[in-house]
Amino acid sequence: MSIFTANLMDDKVVLVTGGGTGIGKGIAKLFGQHGAKVVIASRKQDVLDATAAELQAENIDCAGCVCDIRDYSSVEALIKFVLQRYGQLDVVVNNAAGNFPASVDQLSANGFRTVVDIDLNGTFNVTKAAFEHYLKANGGAVVNITAPFAGWGVAYQAHAAAAKAGIDSLTRSCAVEWQPLGIRVNAVAPGSVAATEGTARLSEALVGEGAQTLDCEAEDIANTVLFLASDAAKFISGEIIRVDSASGVDMLHMPVH
Ligand code: COA
Repeated sequence: MSIFTANLMDDKVVLVTGGGTGIGKGIAKLFGQHGAKVVIASRKQDVLDATAAELQAENIDCAGCVCDIRDYSSVEALIKFVLQRYGQLDVVVNNAAGNFPASVDQLSANGFRTVVDIDLNGTFNVTKAAFEHYLKANGGAVVNITAPFAGWGVAYQAHAAAAKAGIDSLTRSCAVEWQPLGIRVNAVAPGSVAATEGTARLSEALVGEGAQTLDCEAEDIANTVLFLASDAAKFISGEIIRVDSASGVDMLHMPVH
């Protein structure tokens, strides 16, 4: 069930990084169900093929493009792919992320750098390339996927929390700089999302094997992203919205073993 009109994203083109699985797939599907043409990007061709086929079976115009968002030339090729295929790029969803649970004690310099490189630098790369090749001249909306714990201390996630805090900062700075150009930049901070690889790995590390977490569905995140990308949010920019049923607020009480 969607509260949005079916044609909300008609004539819009959306790029979803990490759109082949999990939250990104949920976002790609919801935008497609509301009329958008969707490009999904990931490092794995087979994942992209499977998800594109699934969305196309729902009559969604969807294309996959292999990209490593750590590599700026790969990102530029992705943006050019979108523009060659559809001629426009209205919404960029920076969802792709890499993560693993590790204490600072277990974390090597390369492990820390790898997650910052994927999450923060990758978000910058995609945003910057989209800006240079399209958004600067045409306006648009950027929605970054961050995490509630970016604003807190959190065990086993120092690398991801640092990267996501950087994404929060980047969100606000881009929003300020680009307001005169008609580009809105916002972020959504999901709590744990059911049936994603990230939740399975992190909940086991943070609260123990078999422990219950307060899980939402990918669609709950996608609904908020769709709202932020839509004209209903045309006066909202530089905002970070938690979608976690307050679990992020109560993070200080989360048991850590
Ligand atoms: N604990 C501690 N360090 C880890 C680790 C773990 N569980 N997993 C990876 N690292 C370290 C590696 O040891 C390496 O550091 P080193 O060279 O000092 O040994 C560094 O991180 C890079 O790992 P590598 O596997 O070579 O990088 P990659 O670019 O191939 O993949 C990830 C990086 C984050 C994508 C990978 O860890 C991964 O596949 N994660 C699960 C998938 C995922 O991220 N899903 C999204 C969930 S939100």
